[in-house]
Amino acid sequence: MQNIIQTEHLTKKFGKIIAVDNLDLEIPHGVTFGLLGPNGAGKTTTVRILNAIIKPTSGKAKVNGYDIQKDQKKVKSISGFLPESPGLYDKLTCVEFLEFIGELYSVPSAILKERIYELIELFELKGRENDLLEGYSRGMKQKVCLMSAIIHDPKVIFLDEPTSNLDPEASLMVRDMIQQLAKKADKTIFLCTHLLKHAEDLCDIIGIIKEGKLVIEGDTKKIIEETDTKDLEQAYLKIMGKVREEDLLGWRK
Ligand SMILES: Nc1ncnc2c1ncn2[C@@H]1O[C@H](COP(=O)(O)OP(=O)(O)OP(=O)(O)O)[C@@H](O)[C@H]1O
Ligand SMILES: [Mg+2]
Repeated sequence: MQNIIQTEHLTKKFGKIIAVDNLDLEIPHGVTFGLLGPNGAGKTTTVRILNAIIKPTSGKAKVNGYDIQKDQKKVKSISGFLPESPGLYDKLTCVEFLEFIGELYSVPSAILKERIYELIELFELKGRENDLLEGYSRGMKQKVCLMSAIIHDPKVIFLDEPTSNLDPEASLMVRDMIQQLAKKADKTIFLCTHLLKHAEDLCDIIGIIKEGKLVIEGDTKKIIEETDTKDLEQAYLKIMGKVREEDLLGWRK
């Protein structure tokens, strides 16, 4: 099977900091891939490179066969990206913002209208859709950003911490939405998350990075087996050289 995302020795340096270090990823079509790793591990930098927002220092990457440096427009046209700190136009309403983004992606207007109202229903923003975004709460803004990342029905969806700022109910809704999207035959989802439970529930393949390097890759079962642990949380902490607090406080029992 041809890989929809492929990186070869992908490296990004910011001065002396090596944010992404010789990363080789092979992500097949149609899977949900989870990139896990501690703060500063290089997850956001990786997705920004894969979305042709920043250039790698060295190495190569292709998304859907398009070179991220030579075919930037094509890469952007087939990808949807929810960034870590998205920006919104505060003086637009939710509907106006989504119309604007949809038009940028040349979504036909009849389809766009329908999609906007479907998403507003799904994300439970009905009744607020014509309010200015400046009056939205953080979580509501996050929902609008998520909607804008999928408004053009992209083939590859990059979600950088999609549930940050969301309340538990909205977080579960997003998890379900990712699951629904993942069921569609030609969708590949690239998810950066700190929520190991979500990664376990959602991802077919998980990659764990530490200091820009891929430490382990595989399905949850493989990662648990290879680390000789009981669950993904234990495996993750073992890889990071940490112990769980409950184990740490074992002497108290
Ligand atoms: N524009 C930048 N300029 C300088 N250093 C940067 C820049 N962007 C990222 N870095 C550095 O690169 C490293 C990786 O950062 P990155 O944001 O990719 O981590 P992350 O895995 O997404 O972390 P988090 O879980 O906190 O979101 C960090 O050391 C960070 O300080
Ligand atoms: Mg990040």
